[in-house]
Amino acid sequence: MNKGFVSLRILYDAMLLIKNIKKLLQSREENQLLRKGNLSYLPCIENAWLWIEEGKIKDFGEMSNCPKVEIESIDASGKMILPCWVDSHTHLVFAASREEEFKMRIDGKSYQEIAQSGGGILNSAYRLREMSEEELFEKAKRRLIQTIQLGTGAIEIKSGYGLSVASEIKMLRVIQALKNEFDIPLKASFLGAHALPKEFKDDRKGYIELIKKEMIPAIAKENLADYIDVFCEKVAFSAEETREIIQAGKAYGLKAKIHTNQFNSMGGIEVCVEEKAISVDHLEVMTQEEISLLSKSNTIGTLLPSAPFFLSDPYQDARAMIDQGVAVALATDYNPGSSPSPNMNFSIALACIKLKMSPSEAINAATINAAYALELEEEVGSISKGKRANFILTEEIESESFIPYSFGRAPIDKVFIHGKEFKE
Ligand code: NIG
Ligand code: FE
Repeated sequence: MNKGFVSLRILYDAMLLIKNIKKLLQSREENQLLRKGNLSYLPCIENAWLWIEEGKIKDFGEMSNCPKVEIESIDASGKMILPCWVDSHTHLVFAASREEEFKMRIDGKSYQEIAQSGGGILNSAYRLREMSEEELFEKAKRRLIQTIQLGTGAIEIKSGYGLSVASEIKMLRVIQALKNEFDIPLKASFLGAHALPKEFKDDRKGYIELIKKEMIPAIAKENLADYIDVFCEKVAFSAEETREIIQAGKAYGLKAKIHTNQFNSMGGIEVCVEEKAISVDHLEVMTQEEISLLSKSNTIGTLLPSAPFFLSDPYQDARAMIDQGVAVALATDYNPGSSPSPNMNFSIALACIKLKMSPSEAINAATINAAYALELEEEVGSISKGKRANFILTEEIESESFIPYSFGRAPIDKVFIHGKEFKE
């Protein structure tokens, strides 16, 4: 076969035109971290086309000026297109589920009581230490496939169930292997400071030294993490310990994304804002001072509503945060203890139903703002020229509000990753 013909054919295959899109949601010319009024405006083009080339968004517009090109095309009549969800906070790599603790909670024990009696994160650490890297990878791979099928097209995954040098590195290598296996942007956060492992139960300082002097340098040497995380809570690490660990991470180029204010307001927000954290995540318990501090900063407030849903805790006061100017993102917190669901569609439904966010605010928080929370705003989070063609083609729906309205499921026809329908 003639060589020139072959390369033309490849180019031809790499193009796709989607026509008659009922609404092309989140189509933007420029990137912007959204707050307040901007957060409630969801741009869209009705009766639109979208042109994909080489896995990227080449162009889009109204059907009245649809390009007349002879390339593969799809008719999307009645359906909408929006960028894939960006899940900026997960613990997707874990060894085993924890239904026994779920039953204990139904019988009246609290998440914190279970944690204090050796369950919780320590239970997950015990199971993960026993499992081989290969088996952990296979389990995580399965979960990531299910996650993408639910419309997630960029993700962050944390370590934090190893709690020893070898096991934290094992977890981060699994995350690295997932990065190599899947064609989606994937960021890794090192969460050695998730809990005090049992070997250090009477030696907090010793464990923090291990994190600073051994774990962080070893992880940085292999380039295994993008961010540093700390569980800043009474049951875990104090605000000052959090500061110490953030600074140790910074010295190795790791920016901070921190768990704080899930159960306690204890200085975490102040430290994170001072240390210029990329995001503070959870925020179920916030004082007025903390909201105003956050609103004046560039630190994103990432809300994880499926955690208080699963733990029957009070929800985040999203209205107070948004109305006062905090840049809010949404994520799942997918983990075996407090949020065993990878379904961003459900997080968006909870954001509307329980946090009183409008569907437009929730979709913005789960796409463009979430992309900022992973410093991926140049690649994903909106339908913009040059960004990755990772997008959701919905079922035939009347309006975008149907996504949170039809809670518990995902009204998705197909998910496209790198311009191609995602198939297992
Ligand atoms: O974000 N809170 C700390 N980490 C997770 C829960 C981890 C677990 O229970 O395994 C969270 O809720
Ligand atoms: Fe978490």
